[in-house]
Amino acid sequence: MKGMKLWAFLFTATLMSAEPVSNPAEWSKEARKETLTVFQREVYGVNPAGKVASEWVLDRERKVMEGTVVQREYVLTLGGTLKVRALLYLPVGKKDVPVFLGLNFRGNHTVEDGEWITKANDEKRGKAVGRWPVEMITKAGFGLVTIHCDDFDPDEDDGFKNGVHALFEGERNGTSWGTIAGWAWGLSQVREKLEMVPEVDAEKVVVIGHSRLGKTALWAGASDEKFAMVISNNSGCGGAALSKRKHGETVARINKVFPHWFAGNFRKYGDKEETLPVDQHQLIACIAPRPVYVASASKDDWADPEGEFLALKMAAPAWGEVLGEMPEPGGEVGKAGKVRYHLREGKHDIKEWDWERYLEAAKELL
Ligand code: GCU
Repeated sequence: MKGMKLWAFLFTATLMSAEPVSNPAEWSKEARKETLTVFQREVYGVNPAGKVASEWVLDRERKVMEGTVVQREYVLTLGGTLKVRALLYLPVGKKDVPVFLGLNFRGNHTVEDGEWITKANDEKRGKAVGRWPVEMITKAGFGLVTIHCDDFDPDEDDGFKNGVHALFEGERNGTSWGTIAGWAWGLSQVREKLEMVPEVDAEKVVVIGHSRLGKTALWAGASDEKFAMVISNNSGCGGAALSKRKHGETVARINKVFPHWFAGNFRKYGDKEETLPVDQHQLIACIAPRPVYVASASKDDWADPEGEFLALKMAAPAWGEVLGEMPEPGGEVGKAGKVRYHLREGKHDIKEWDWERYLEAAKELL
């Protein structure tokens, strides 16, 4: 380890050599760039070059929670054709509001009970209300922005004919972007537009996601340095969990069941994880020096809680931090630093218990 540059360590680290190092400065811009290039080529795919025209228009607005919260729907139009509906909640009367930005699985109308939110599909209104504690978030002084992931790209293997992929021309190959990269790109588009929302501090946008959308939050936060903080909730394989452990969901299985999520190249590593040139701790390290929070759930073996914890622990040297041991269910690690972890008791989900901790961390660290 002695004399080895930190980035080279992170680059070549095996599970057995997760030794802390003392010099985070060595995790240089150059090393981060190089690492991201490998993740693009071999895991998530390369975003197409060039920009598309975009428009951000306030469509609807009302006050809720006895006038303490303003709720809005903005429409983001990409490439003149793709319409994306962003749902915002902001505490009334506050300036420079930091916001949480995350995709939702089933439509904005599932985030809240009631009839107001534009219905995205036939899913029941309010179905996901437990995952989005809007009152808690806004009372803590934060805003929330959420978008149905399907607005950016339908979560199915459609041959990349729809969503953001259809906005760009060109032949596809093994390094072309998949759906997770498309969703992450979408999050960056919205982050940029938040600069146009007067109450929001667009330099304090926390990107957050659960499960497949947690994988997306990590990729968005690692590749777009303008996200101020990154939260991965139960993101598992292709997210925070180390692929080389082959515990729970594996690379072969994820590519078989969700062939559209990653770059075609990622398939090469199914049942050959040891040949992967990178592992997920290096993705997490790309977030440094910005704060990162990884969380697992004790009954979520599929997402490999221990693999998520170890990846974070192996990445911590990039912040100059050292994490302790894997906690018991209900436990938290890294509370004094910028690299935080908790293991919620229970199943694969995102709950108020998780949000309480995310809010506390964001308050301290932004
Ligand atoms: C499946 C998938 C996971 C994913 C999860 C989800 O379980 O195998 O990789 O994280 O769905 O998004 O809920």
